[in-house]
Amino acid sequence: MALLIKTDIERGNAWAEALASAYPELKTHTWPYKGDPAAIDYALVWMPPEGELKSYPNLKAIFSIGAGIDHLASDPDLPEGVPVVRMVEPGLTAGMSEYVALAALNHHRFIQDYANQRREKRWEEIPQIAASARQIGMLGLGVLGRAALESLGTFGFKLAGWSRTPKSITGISCYHGEEGLREFLAETDILVCLLPLTPETEGILNRDVFAQLPQGAAVINVGRGGHLVEEDLLEALDSGQLGGATLDVFHEEPLPKNHPFWTHPKVFMTPHIASMTIPETACQAVVANIHRLEAGEPLRHVRDMTRGY
Ligand code: NAP
Ligand code: GLV
Repeated sequence: MALLIKTDIERGNAWAEALASAYPELKTHTWPYKGDPAAIDYALVWMPPEGELKSYPNLKAIFSIGAGIDHLASDPDLPEGVPVVRMVEPGLTAGMSEYVALAALNHHRFIQDYANQRREKRWEEIPQIAASARQIGMLGLGVLGRAALESLGTFGFKLAGWSRTPKSITGISCYHGEEGLREFLAETDILVCLLPLTPETEGILNRDVFAQLPQGAAVINVGRGGHLVEEDLLEALDSGQLGGATLDVFHEEPLPKNHPFWTHPKVFMTPHIASMTIPETACQAVVANIHRLEAGEPLRHVRDMTRGY
């Protein structure tokens, strides 16, 4: 049985090593692969070139190295009938909870404002607000959104989440659908986006949504760059409707050098590192799924073609 790995060289080698110790019988190849395409049973990929995967006629499953599968869904030649599995693994979940906590606390405690003051050598106190007086609203209550939101509960924030289907989660006010979104936004002081990028969620962080948040609210985008209408964010920051933004994902990555986000005083940004799959922990999830498929059992975390994520 053979698996092809397509990511950057360093991570590809880390995956090959992790898989060799977790599943020694599995033969791994790193891309570019020069052997017989028919010999490849599984692909483990991050952003493969469009059309690449259709050249392996015997693929049984495609594993995404990331939680998001938009990098595969956008391939018009994705082989039909081959299940696409998104990444669900404890290292990725823990990393995202850390990042969202860091970003939410950054806004809650005005750290970006203090960083700006420091540059100007200004010693000024900003009145502190109790966590219990702030609502953190999570767009997306999936594996990552729910874990990140729940971990913020320890600080005493009010927690709310929005999803496609109705949910009931202790300690979280749950909203769904278009009507729920309005009610959810009206009370949200720190809005976090952890949605998958689909035609329904593209551009969801826009002028209308920002206008429905309380004045001075903050936005944290860790979903995908395609969720954000960048001009609308700049306008909302400059008008004071939004107090700040943390951005980890962008329409164009790397962000072009002349982009206004680089120097905007209300923007804190990072280069798409909010959370990364850790091969040492993630290989267990991949191996367990391969064993399931080989034993004739259903795969876990398969992309649902009807809902698109
Ligand atoms: P997931 O488990 O599939 O959860 C997706 C959540 O979004 C679900 O709660 C789903 O609602 C909700 N949703 C989807 N479409 C919706 C819609 N049209 N309206 C309202 N809610 C909708 O995904 P995940 O594993 O948490 O990952 C989420 C995303 O995080 C990924 O797709 C990826 O883009 C991003 N990500 C970013 C980084 C980074 O480093 N920046 C790292 C990892 C992942 P239901 O519960 O009702 O289905
Ligand atoms: C990273 O962006 C992921 O989808 O895991």
